[in-house]
Amino acid sequence: MKRETRIYSDSIDEDRFDPNQPGSNDQDRSRPAPSAIDASTAAIAGVDELFAIRQDSPLVIGHGETGTFLGSDVTAFLEHTREVTYLDDGELAVISGSGVELYRDGEPVEVRTEQLTWEADAAEKGGYEHYMRKEIHEQPRALRQTLSGRYDLDSGTVDVEVDLPREYLRSIEEIQIVACGTSNYAGRYAAELFESLADVRTTVEIASEYEFDGGRDPWRTLVVAVTQSGETADTLSAIRKAIRAGARTLAVTNTLGSTVTREVDDSVFIRAGPEIGVAATKTFASQVATLALLAVYVGRERSALSSNRARSVLESLRSLPGAVQQVLDREDAVHGIATEYADSEAFFFIGRKYGRSVALEGALKLKEISYDHAEGFAAGELKHGPLALVTADTPVLAVLTDGSAAAETLNNVKEVQARSAPVIGAVSGDIGESYLDVTWEVPDIGMFEPLVTNVYWQLFAYHVANEKGRSIDKPRNLAKSVTVE
Ligand code: M6R
Repeated sequence: MKRETRIYSDSIDEDRFDPNQPGSNDQDRSRPAPSAIDASTAAIAGVDELFAIRQDSPLVIGHGETGTFLGSDVTAFLEHTREVTYLDDGELAVISGSGVELYRDGEPVEVRTEQLTWEADAAEKGGYEHYMRKEIHEQPRALRQTLSGRYDLDSGTVDVEVDLPREYLRSIEEIQIVACGTSNYAGRYAAELFESLADVRTTVEIASEYEFDGGRDPWRTLVVAVTQSGETADTLSAIRKAIRAGARTLAVTNTLGSTVTREVDDSVFIRAGPEIGVAATKTFASQVATLALLAVYVGRERSALSSNRARSVLESLRSLPGAVQQVLDREDAVHGIATEYADSEAFFFIGRKYGRSVALEGALKLKEISYDHAEGFAAGELKHGPLALVTADTPVLAVLTDGSAAAETLNNVKEVQARSAPVIGAVSGDIGESYLDVTWEVPDIGMFEPLVTNVYWQLFAYHVANEKGRSIDKPRNLAKSVTVE
């Protein structure tokens, strides 16, 4: 059978690809998919071989029954095939009607293929208007997959299948997390967990700013790249600096076979399933849950964490999927509030400790898909400057749960209320006399309550953006995998 070659840009969309009018789709104007033009030109000229070389940016081949696909990310052609080949830098693929040949340094090499285990319906919208909303709703299932078979509650132990010898873990002085965007905020949540559960200093670096410096000893520094796609250029560049310095490296990623997994010493998969929407949602939850498991593992290996405390952390983790489901069941209420406040001048998110990461992530999600001004702050920092921005037209969304120093944050809530700002609080337990404008209840599950709160923030962002008719799955100017520095 004659096979077709198709080249897709890096996100799935029904009207994703019109070779005759490249870039004519409004949503796609920022990414006119020049490679798609090349493919159609080749077809018109009667060329029956396509040459593809990988250098620095990712390139994946999909081997389908009806054709061969090329993309920077498997999600671009996941609905057609799950059999893929990840090219290495310098490799040349020759694709023709009879199949794929691979060359390195001019010599033919074997075509390696991998079978993705993602489920058939995972890359479809399944009745939802947007992938983002579908992926928000997939979180209970994604979290169950993330946690499945990785811990034993009775013994308070974790197995995330990493090769990190006990002697090594006992010798490290620091964990450095390198990541961008949402993954960076997941890393910040995790840094608090590593410090508290594993008694190891943990710093979080924005990958594009990273240098292995400061007199660190590479033998005593574990560098962890957190990246959903495994292809983010800034994160790859950071991890390469750590590798060059001689540090041990670990990737926490969603993507089997991605570039990062082929460069680091070890990888842990977050098992969230494919995420198509540009806005990261379920992968944030699964990243934090995976890093939490890792923190328990490191804590136990370093004898910094008792089995009793490990059990209570694992119990909180076990409750996560159910608690997230309870929040999802309240979507109608969130929708109503989002509609009420959608036209506000700006939105501020505040929180402390784990709640601070979630405040940053909540603001990123909202600005990314609604194009509104949104900022996240450590609640205690408000009075040092940002308070000047607060007015009656700037709703403040506050994390008031376990793990977020709710009592102290309530003082900051009073500060913004004194400036007439409406306050939406995600609350667990009794916070005393209720004077919030809106209260969203968070199930009482302990230290992961801020992560559950994030689901309220996701739904709020989604409905504000939807109210404004934004291009939710493909926000302007953004791409799912950012493969340039
Ligand atoms: O694939 P990565 O996790 O490395 O991506 C990092 C960021 O580009 C990504 O999290 C970005 O911030 C999201 N679009 C935010 O929703």
